[in-house]
Amino acid sequence: PAQNGEKESRQKLWEDQQMKNAVRAASGAEEIYVEGSQGYDFVFDDEAMIEFTEDSNEDVLPEEHSEYDNKLLTELERENKRLLTIQETRKSLPVYHFRQELLTSIKENQILIVVGETGSGKTTQLPQYLVEDGYTQRGRYQIACTQPRRVAATSVAARVADEMNVVLGKQVGYSIRFEDKTTPDTTILKYMTDGMLLREFMTDPELSKYACIMIDEAHERTLATDVLLGLLKDILPHRKDLKLIISSATMNATKFSSFFYDAPIFNVPGRRFPVDIHYTLQPEANYLNAAVTTIFQIHTTQALPGDILVFLTGQEEIEAAQQSLEDIAHALGDKIKDMVIAPIYANLPQEQQSKIFQKTPQDCRKIVLATNIAETSLTIDGIKYVVDPGFVKENSYVPSTGMSQLLTVPCSRASVDQRAGRAGRVGPGKCFRIFTKWSYFHELEPLPKPEILRTNLSQVVLLLLSLGVTDLINFPLLDKPSIPALSKALENLYILGALNSKGVITRLGRMMCEFPCEPDFGKVIHTAATHESCKGALEEVVTIVAMLHETASIFVHARAERDQNKTAVVGKVSSDHMLYLRTFNSWRDMDYSKSWCFDHKVQYKTMVRVRNIRDQLWRCCDKLGLAALNEKAMKSLNVDENLEPRIIKSFIAGFPTNVARLSPTGYRTLGKSQGGVNVSIHPTSTVFQAARQDMKKPSKLILYQRLVLTSKEFMRDCMPVPREDWLQEMVPHYFNGDNTQD
Ligand code: CDP
Ligand code: MG
Repeated sequence: PAQNGEKESRQKLWEDQQMKNAVRAASGAEEIYVEGSQGYDFVFDDEAMIEFTEDSNEDVLPEEHSEYDNKLLTELERENKRLLTIQETRKSLPVYHFRQELLTSIKENQILIVVGETGSGKTTQLPQYLVEDGYTQRGRYQIACTQPRRVAATSVAARVADEMNVVLGKQVGYSIRFEDKTTPDTTILKYMTDGMLLREFMTDPELSKYACIMIDEAHERTLATDVLLGLLKDILPHRKDLKLIISSATMNATKFSSFFYDAPIFNVPGRRFPVDIHYTLQPEANYLNAAVTTIFQIHTTQALPGDILVFLTGQEEIEAAQQSLEDIAHALGDKIKDMVIAPIYANLPQEQQSKIFQKTPQDCRKIVLATNIAETSLTIDGIKYVVDPGFVKENSYVPSTGMSQLLTVPCSRASVDQRAGRAGRVGPGKCFRIFTKWSYFHELEPLPKPEILRTNLSQVVLLLLSLGVTDLINFPLLDKPSIPALSKALENLYILGALNSKGVITRLGRMMCEFPCEPDFGKVIHTAATHESCKGALEEVVTIVAMLHETASIFVHARAERDQNKTAVVGKVSSDHMLYLRTFNSWRDMDYSKSWCFDHKVQYKTMVRVRNIRDQLWRCCDKLGLAALNEKAMKSLNVDENLEPRIIKSFIAGFPTNVARLSPTGYRTLGKSQGGVNVSIHPTSTVFQAARQDMKKPSKLILYQRLVLTSKEFMRDCMPVPREDWLQEMVPHYFNGDNTQD
């Protein structure tokens, strides 16, 4: 027994140590400790605390609440509010008080700009008001409301279907890329991504089935929204009966007004409580760790209820933060109050999205880990604290090198102010900024940079050309892209064969537009069906293209483990593309089984999405006659013929500018005018692992799907190109001798 006792106390010591380690590891702190005699106190060491300045920031967030508002928020009132029916909730939204005024303004003006605080009911209510006011003429016309983000389109559509007490997908539906949840005859209200409405111009250039179009979240200034506004400006004079509503959070509104001949601006005054802003005293090197520590500081020191909203930059960061939070919370067990962690980001499967809207249980705190999707597009009730490291992931494109990257950059002042405002919706709130006050005033840009100024324009230019807009320079846009950016887009399209040397769109270019994917993928698919030395590989290529749309979430779990089991799924493969192909085909051969996915650590839901994408791409191939061509070619192919060279060649045709060559100093991209850039194969790539495990000589040429800048410039989704002359064979007008030299 004595031995047992010793064992127990050792066990206890060990557990305590584990707990300390967990907290320390996850918070990045030197000395966070947990101690206690009877019951535990949760103590943060001073060193580990993130220090914030106190700064009641009235000039940033004006105090607009009254005694009445405060009273409204007593516990009792809140409980009553919860019991209000859905219709009464609708009436409680700020826009409701302006319902009639808004409808009158819309009647009197073809274009109206509506500005209001996030959460005031613009997105969910305005389209319903239009329906109620008879704009759809008993189902003859539709009402469209665009959203920059897929998650917003789907979740808002679900909410509105609920409010209107109809089945989602019937009267109220949504349309996002690869997923159309509408019924042509019955849908009157359609939430859609701005990109989808843009595509509708191809089949219906006057948008004749719509009575009203609401361009929502216009302040986000996505590329698709900007181009939509330009196209709408063009058609509005011919379509006098079409109503256009542009809605925006409280930034940028006058710019929209002057773009549309001084259209009236309707301000919906919102209710907002004061938010105390806290800054860190010092810059924090690791904002993720600092955010996790801050969350626990809030959780252990601030009274309940009061949920926390944390702004992170993407899925990976959110997953890492969730892991740390769970580890620490688990280690602390019942020494701290319960918390629910609810992540939200663009690729989060829809069935998991609802968690952020679920009411937080009593005596528990909800911690929402969000990308900037929660900045304005989604409103989450009950948030009292905002933790904001002040970063955002942004696309950045350099026309001179043709390189496109997702970069983590500091947000604008307008963005961080919006984020802070999320804490003041239900009552006075607090915002913890993980950057200094100095940085706020001196380092942050005042406004975010519109996407049109920092992205590859090829796809949009191709779309405009296919719509007959040839004078690109004078096309109406809120911000004009630079001439080099436009020229680069034209050059890219010429290399792909979408334009001829006079800059006129070709038949191939029109086909590339038809595909619901980027023009380069369209070219890959087209090549696989039509090119003499690729023909017969269409099915495989379409599968790979579909898989490449979902690479972020195909394989389950921790990185090290994931790399191990990737090859376990399919045996040795020479490229990531072949890995994707074999994974899909193995799953297909097992009758798309769920248990196969489970056994092989592949995400079943992602695979279902891939299958759906693949079906849509295939239908498009069918429509364009490519499937028939492929069938014919298959007949003449040898049964055992190795398809891999055909697949590689098809991808070369679509991505000739995404090739890197091995030089004495490592891989360098084949830049045309600028020389190359040093790049490395990403460690998660099968190409990287194959080279390491088999000591194989690295391939001289690598084709990659994208570049990611982290510690250095990495190529992701790589495919070795075994023969140099394939480049010249597939894209002769680009690889003309001197171009491929270092
Ligand atoms: O567009 P805006 O930011 O002005 O507001 P909204 O998105 O129409 O949201 C109005 C209200 O609907 C919010 O206060 C949310 O509480 C609620 N809502 C919800 O409960 N679930 C959703 N999926 C969307 C909105
Ligand atoms: Mg909205």
